[in-house]
Amino acid sequence: MAVVESHNLHRFFRTGDDEVAALRDVSLMLEAGEMVALIGMSGSGKSTLLSCLAGLDEPDGGHVVVVGQRITHRSEQERAGLRAEHIGLVMQSGTLVDHLTIRENIALQHELGGRSKTAPIEPILDLLGIRPQADKLPRALSGGEVARSGLAVAIATNAPVLLCDEPTAEVDADTEAAVLCEIRRRCRAGTVALIATHSSAVARQADRVIEIRDGRIV
Ligand SMILES: Nc1ncnc2c1ncn2[C@@H]1O[C@H](COP(=O)(O)OP(=O)(O)OP(=O)(O)O)[C@@H](O)[C@H]1O
Ligand SMILES: [Mg+2]
Repeated sequence: MAVVESHNLHRFFRTGDDEVAALRDVSLMLEAGEMVALIGMSGSGKSTLLSCLAGLDEPDGGHVVVVGQRITHRSEQERAGLRAEHIGLVMQSGTLVDHLTIRENIALQHELGGRSKTAPIEPILDLLGIRPQADKLPRALSGGEVARSGLAVAIATNAPVLLCDEPTAEVDADTEAAVLCEIRRRCRAGTVALIATHSSAVARQADRVIEIRDGRIV
């Protein structure tokens, strides 16, 4: 079953007289349990696509369906609700709430999705090796620790969809392996993961690679 569907997505950005077509007619289907790498040069449209799939951004054309529900062309509030319920999100920046500790960030995201059980915080801290950082604020962490914490927050949601924008861009090879291992574990449990990446290790380990060039899937 397709858990994430995009149909003919278009997204244009205008600055002055310039227009950039960041997405051109992007259609894709992501099935439960798949680990998919999204590759492409800088500026090719990867982050724009993830933002549209997550309902953070509205496409100028086309639509997105997540877990059977349309997330595009709805109010901000409805999109936020669907996102909290269905999507674990790791963006290039801004995944963590600045004034909350890592532990509090994990708990908050878990609760926002209306999940009754307490978040499985302790095992996630250990899996990603960030237990010593658990009670610190994001600004007290290194780039790699922030990256792993962002992933911890997304994974704790236990959401059926995991959208990750360069989750291993700022980490060493060992940490990258740990992060991939954790994403793979989630996929075995049925989550679909779409990972925008410049890393060949991520692309190698994915079940499928989608390449985007100038806003178009090739
Ligand atoms: N808010 C915006 N306003 C204007 N142009 C934008 C905006 N967001 C993205 N763009 C443009 O859209 C294109 C796609 O950008 P996007 O961030 O999706 O690329 P990317 O593939 O994620 O790149 P990177 O690998 O560097 O993260 C780029 O040309 C970028 O400059
Ligand atoms: Mg990007």
